[in-house]
Amino acid sequence: MKNIMVTGGAGFIGSNFVRYMLNRYPDYRILVYDKLTYAGNPDNLLDVADDPRYAFVKGDICDAEAVIAALREHNIDTIVNFAAETHVDRSIMDPDAFIRTDVYGTYVLLEAARQLGLERYHQISTDEVYGHIHGDHRSLETDPVAPRSPYAASKTSGDLLAVAYHVTYGLPVTITRGANNIGPYQYPEKVVPLFVTNAIDNLPLPVYGDGKQRRDYQYVLDHCEGVDAVLQRGALGEIYNIGTGGEMENLAMVEILLDELGKPRSLIQHVEDRPGHDRRYCLNVDKLRGLGWQPRHTHEEAIRKTVRWYVENEWWWRKIKSGEFKEYYRRLYGDRKVIAPA
Ligand code: NAD
Ligand code: TYD
Repeated sequence: MKNIMVTGGAGFIGSNFVRYMLNRYPDYRILVYDKLTYAGNPDNLLDVADDPRYAFVKGDICDAEAVIAALREHNIDTIVNFAAETHVDRSIMDPDAFIRTDVYGTYVLLEAARQLGLERYHQISTDEVYGHIHGDHRSLETDPVAPRSPYAASKTSGDLLAVAYHVTYGLPVTITRGANNIGPYQYPEKVVPLFVTNAIDNLPLPVYGDGKQRRDYQYVLDHCEGVDAVLQRGALGEIYNIGTGGEMENLAMVEILLDELGKPRSLIQHVEDRPGHDRRYCLNVDKLRGLGWQPRHTHEEAIRKTVRWYVENEWWWRKIKSGEFKEYYRRLYGDRKVIAPA
């Protein structure tokens, strides 16, 4: 593995992964292949733009000809597929792009990897494929999938296709399923950057329902290291969960975030819940630990570090929040009912 195509590399996790890999492996070359949707942002990669080991191609993963041309031209041996439509609320409002990119786009990449005989195809997936988890259970890689939102269903379909390509054609596939990532360059539609940037401007933080849903907020670089561990030492055809292995209520996350900013709890505003909202995700990450990986940040460290990045990088998020985002925010939150706290 020397020449890696990182699809979706101009997005949040992809751009952090590109930076991490260039720093870690001086002899690797990275091609970012990205459509630059609303979530793809060249600003996320400004600091690597002049690195001679880095190249960028603007393209859609659904465009088979363009994908194959980029793979050939850059002599790619490995695809790491981060490209996706990623926001659950957008998938509820408009699922179409999710089915195209997360399902059909994954198929196009798998087929291209098969035709060109690549060394590895790695699929970036999510804990949302397991659906919401009851009791104290932590999802195992062998658990049945039970997606409940259009986003989760489209990501699950991508996983199933990747497994099928391994079983049927012997394609050297690996899959990782990550918990909620937080950190630098996350588009401020996701809860943590949305809440930090709202709070900085003294705007309300729209907590869905009772705010007692549970998530495993992991620092993005811990996730990147996990993907790297699987690329280096993972077994072909296998799935690996990536997270801290813990969980936290959304309200607890919000309180840490507000405390780090020195902002009052009165900014919390409970609003009508997300339809089909998954109450709890929690992963068993022992399989990945078996490859010698471990998370470096607790939930609290990850949240505080993330908050500080947004405080120090207003240049990055103010541009986004003043553009197309305003219309999105009005559509999702404009008429949303405010409810009493539970
Ligand atoms: P993001 O929304 O920040 O970025 C997605 C990137 O994909 C953007 O750069 C966008 O331009 C690009 N893209 C979208 N459609 C494309 C297409 N058709 N062709 C080429 N590029 C396209 O996403 P993210 O949060 O960085 O997530 C990256 C991956 O990680 C996704 O596969 C997501 O499902 C998975 N994941 C995310 C999280 C999380 O907490 N954010 C957790 C687990 C897994
Ligand atoms: P999100 O960042 O959208 O990730 P996901 O739904 O994929 O886990 O949301 C994380 C949690 O925060 C989830 O339980 C929904 C909740 N949430 C809110 O309470 N308010 C919001 O405005 C958003 C965007 C999310």
